[in-house]
Amino acid sequence: MEASTEAAEAQQWAGFKDFYQSTQPTRIIAGRDLIASAGFEFMKEGAARVLIVTDEVIRATGLIDKVEAGLTDGGLEVGGVFDQVPQDSATDVVERCAEYAKEVGADSFIAVGGGSVIDTAKAAVLIFTHGGTVREHEGFYLMPRAGDGMGRPEDIAPLAVIPTTAGTGSEVSMAAVVKDHEEKVKVEIADFPLFPRLAILDPASTRTLPPAIAAATGMDAMTHAIEGHTCTDWSPHLSANVLQALRLLRDNLERAVTDGPNDEEARGNMLIAAALAINLNLGSVHAMSHPCGAHYGVPHGVANSINLPHVVRYNCAGGTPIANRFREVADIFDVESGGADEAVGDAIATHLTELSGRMGLPTRLSEAGVPEEGIPTLVDGALGDGTTLLNPREVSEEAYTELYRAAL
Ligand SMILES: [Fe+2]
Repeated sequence: MEASTEAAEAQQWAGFKDFYQSTQPTRIIAGRDLIASAGFEFMKEGAARVLIVTDEVIRATGLIDKVEAGLTDGGLEVGGVFDQVPQDSATDVVERCAEYAKEVGADSFIAVGGGSVIDTAKAAVLIFTHGGTVREHEGFYLMPRAGDGMGRPEDIAPLAVIPTTAGTGSEVSMAAVVKDHEEKVKVEIADFPLFPRLAILDPASTRTLPPAIAAATGMDAMTHAIEGHTCTDWSPHLSANVLQALRLLRDNLERAVTDGPNDEEARGNMLIAAALAINLNLGSVHAMSHPCGAHYGVPHGVANSINLPHVVRYNCAGGTPIANRFREVADIFDVESGGADEAVGDAIATHLTELSGRMGLPTRLSEAGVPEEGIPTLVDGALGDGTTLLNPREVSEEAYTELYRAAL
């Protein structure tokens, strides 16, 4: 490598960046017994008559009754409960949800659930406010703006979120992903107004989370944190958040899985870790996992936990400036970071694989239903995924094939 290129690379990984932006407008309240004050808090964000968005499984746990009581105690009205969100959110469900909000005269939304529920509610608030279909709003930074589209984006109706899993971080992000099941495509919408106005992080809402889902969603947060710190779009603001998320994950993830219902502290810290880890600057782990979900139904967190160690090894072998970013991750996990670049990758990867194994997650794609003959399709999907462009080390078709083989 020429000296000048090397300098540019080093600048990229350690210096003052030419450009980045950082924004976190969602008001986060974290602590104990906060569901009871949901109404008091959401009123401050402009809500008066609320539609609760959730799914039937969560409703059956009794959590929605507590949310309703919390809203009305604070002086808000509950317009209705929309509990028809499927496991894999869908564009037609979003449109029905927005319609239902109009029928019941709601002026605001509260999402109580995991990623699918939250993303459904986000897209529904958008449709409720601006009309149209989900597909018509697809894309990044395309929501209606003042000044002939050049000014500030127009506000949408207030949305509050009570996450019931600790992983996706959607409660504090500006992105919503919903599936168009007819066309078999994933529709992504992202713009500043989609940041929820309020996120309520109360461990009581994750009490009934099954251990397998706690483990998988926790590994999704782990992947967000590691990819956030090591992708080409890293920034000091992002690293401040995701490195702290890694410390919380180190100390709480396994506890939250093995003794979930009893360990309120671990579950509370996991909610905070997930909210700190979320970012849209990801890399090849997400690029590999998205097609595993689309083609073979592998849950997002499970796919990430399987693919993550392999991508970490690959990236650490991509040069010392990149490996140095991973050394900071290795130090947090207290695994060997002093040796050769490849050795750092190995140390982190082994640590992660052992962690996933202890939590009962599958560690091979074949265990999660991916057949060997599926690899070419998965490689195509990964190459076409936008997150590939942010991976610290370039990934060719051959490299993805090797990575999938290793993960199989
Ligand atoms: Fe993710």
